Amino acid sequence: MNVKDVIYQRKSIRKYQNKEIPEEIINELLDAARRAPSAKNTQSHKYYVVKDKKTLKKLKENGVFKQPFVNDASLIIVCCANPKLYPPSVDVDDTPQNYALTDLSIASSFMVLRAEELGLGSVFVAWVYRDKLRETLNIPKEYIIPFVLPIGYPAENPAPRSRKELKDILF
Ligand SMILES: Cc1cc2nc3c(=O)[nH]c(=O)nc-3n(C[C@H](O)[C@H](O)[C@H](O)COP(=O)(O)O)c2cc1C
Repeated sequence: MNVKDVIYQRKSIRKYQNKEIPEEIINELLDAARRAPSAKNTQSHKYYVVKDKKTLKKLKENGVFKQPFVNDASLIIVCCANPKLYPPSVDVDDTPQNYALTDLSIASSFMVLRAEELGLGSVFVAWVYRDKLRETLNIPKEYIIPFVLPIGYPAENPAPRSRKELKDILF
């Protein structure tokens, strides 16, 4: 599959087979994120890989996710970034928060596209109770946690969601 195929084929997947993802495949996903570009090459991202039954159960019991389907994934990658790592900017109105969110989104998209290529389904999930998530996994307070990625072998094949026409995304 080339990049175009992966981009055109990807859809959010919210139902997963009850099948574990091998360690080397998980490493492939993380390595795709690792190779992403980042502002000032700061690489402020960090991931919490949740795959053991005990921690998955704890997340469920603590009501971390608004949507129950997230708890059915055998792998949840919690996507975090630390805005404090960026060197200060001079004269421009950028912010470390903006950089952290942008860099993490790019790196996570690399991961999502690689997952697609490897036959896995995933979805960005922002409907998260962050305080509960932070507490359950003991994630340091300086890290933002904009979203998580439940990932698994797809157990659904939804119709592609609509997109605006090209002319409608141009000023
Ligand atoms: C930043 C972001 C946050 C999202 N949060 C959620 C979420 O909390 N729950 C959910 O079911 N889908 C979530 N989605 C998935 C979108 O609803 C989905 O990408 C969109 O409807 C387009 O569908 P597609 O990904 O299948 O093309 C999120 C997507 C993005 C990019």
